[in-house]
Amino acid sequence: MTTTYFRRYCMQVDLRNGWTPRSLSPLPPGFELWPWKESLREAHARAKYESFREEMDANIFSCLGNEEGCRRLMRDISFRDGFLPEATWLLVHHSAERKTGVPCGTIQAIRTGPRVASIQNVGVSPAFRGRGLGSWLVNHSLQGMHRSQFEFGQLEVTASNLGAIRLYERLGFHRLKVVHKSTDVRSFPSPL
Ligand SMILES: CC(C)(COP(=O)(O)OP(=O)(O)OC[C@H]1O[C@@H](n2cnc3c(N)ncnc32)[C@H](O)[C@@H]1OP(=O)(O)O)[C@@H](O)C(=O)NCCC(=O)NCCS
Repeated sequence: MTTTYFRRYCMQVDLRNGWTPRSLSPLPPGFELWPWKESLREAHARAKYESFREEMDANIFSCLGNEEGCRRLMRDISFRDGFLPEATWLLVHHSAERKTGVPCGTIQAIRTGPRVASIQNVGVSPAFRGRGLGSWLVNHSLQGMHRSQFEFGQLEVTASNLGAIRLYERLGFHRLKVVHKSTDVRSFPSPL
């Protein structure tokens, strides 16, 4: 067991001065974004697990790499004082083969300062990436923050997660500071 330090960026988007959501191409057919309700907590946990289980972040935050950990994390986030239902969305995929929609993406946010809201985790299941769905989730979460009068949206991202960083930069985030997260790891896959 060795202690490893991961470089992460705290990123921020300024929601003041006439901020408007980026215009995105329409959601692809078969996908819907569902607003938060308690009864969707388990679906968020499942989407979180599917999105993070094979990713570098599951080595930094071990709860992301197992289903029970994701359930616990969703409970913790949704019971926190500053939980922001208006900036929390579930992505659901409907297919001809299944009667009910399948959760395939999630984003949640909490208040972290009087004027600051922070995205906790955003993830899209591997099979559905690269179609603009992650951008939709982030955009919708920022709209919820903006409607609730927050002035800044923030998040933390592992420095090697280049695809996610590009996505955030396209949506107006910039790097605010570097933070280091230490974790005890047995082994971890190569960075993304
Ligand atoms: C980060 C993550 C949420 C992005 O989700 P996504 O649905 O793939 O995001 P998008 O499709 O909006 O953007 C990703 C890429 O698809 C491209 N894209 C965007 N819209 C598209 C569309 N309509 N059709 C095809 N490609 C599109 C983007 O240009 C982008 O390309 P890039 O790699 O050159 O930047 C996803 O990769 C993920 O869940 N990763 C694992 C968990 C994780 O690391 N989360 C972030 C923690 S901070």
